[in-house]
Amino acid sequence: MKIVVLNGSPKGDISVTMQYVAYIRKKFPEHTYEILNVAHEIRKIENDTAVWNKTIESIRSADMVLWAFPLYVMVVCSQYKRFIELIFERSAQDAFAGTYAASLSTSIHFFDQTAHAYIHAISDDLGMKYLGFYSADMKDLLSGEERTRLEKFVSLLVTAVQEKMPVQRENAPLVLPSLVLLR
Ligand SMILES: Cc1cc2nc3c(=O)[nH]c(=O)nc-3n(C[C@H](O)[C@H](O)[C@H](O)COP(=O)(O)O)c2cc1C
Repeated sequence: MKIVVLNGSPKGDISVTMQYVAYIRKKFPEHTYEILNVAHEIRKIENDTAVWNKTIESIRSADMVLWAFPLYVMVVCSQYKRFIELIFERSAQDAFAGTYAASLSTSIHFFDQTAHAYIHAISDDLGMKYLGFYSADMKDLLSGEERTRLEKFVSLLVTAVQEKMPVQRENAPLVLPSLVLLR
């Protein structure tokens, strides 16, 4: 199956979070992976139509999208947030709709649950089938127990996608207050 990783670290390939993705690739080589450095490359993605189109087409081809991001100041970094804004501004939701999604973060566990709740809600708004999250401490990869937990998480994701597990959205869509609509 094809896993598209949306890298939410402004550091790009050298990010700590991407080392967790590298570990997953090593342990699950039977899948294909495409890593999109959407935070690091946000200026190009926003300003170059060809880069934007290529990014969206890669996402469209995914069997599962992995939102992989670090925590920066209690949520995802602003570049990642901008990428998410662009999806809605440019009406690209259809490239995500119906695809399985999951999230993986590294942090020091300060407001990581808020960031995952945000990404879960965004996935719901995009019509994705959100399966769950793995929230690692930035040094967890050094622990055998945590590596085993990460492998179990990925195995569960793969099974869910392969068995086409039904997923219900958990977050109601936002409705504009009538006062805003009156303006
Ligand atoms: C400026 C800054 C802000 C951070 N804010 C948070 C935070 O709010 N919550 C948290 O748990 N970790 C926070 N961290 C820790 C990072 O999430 C952690 O180092 C992460 O593994 C970095 O991943 P990356 O190398 O993939 O960017 C922060 C780190 C920095 C440098």
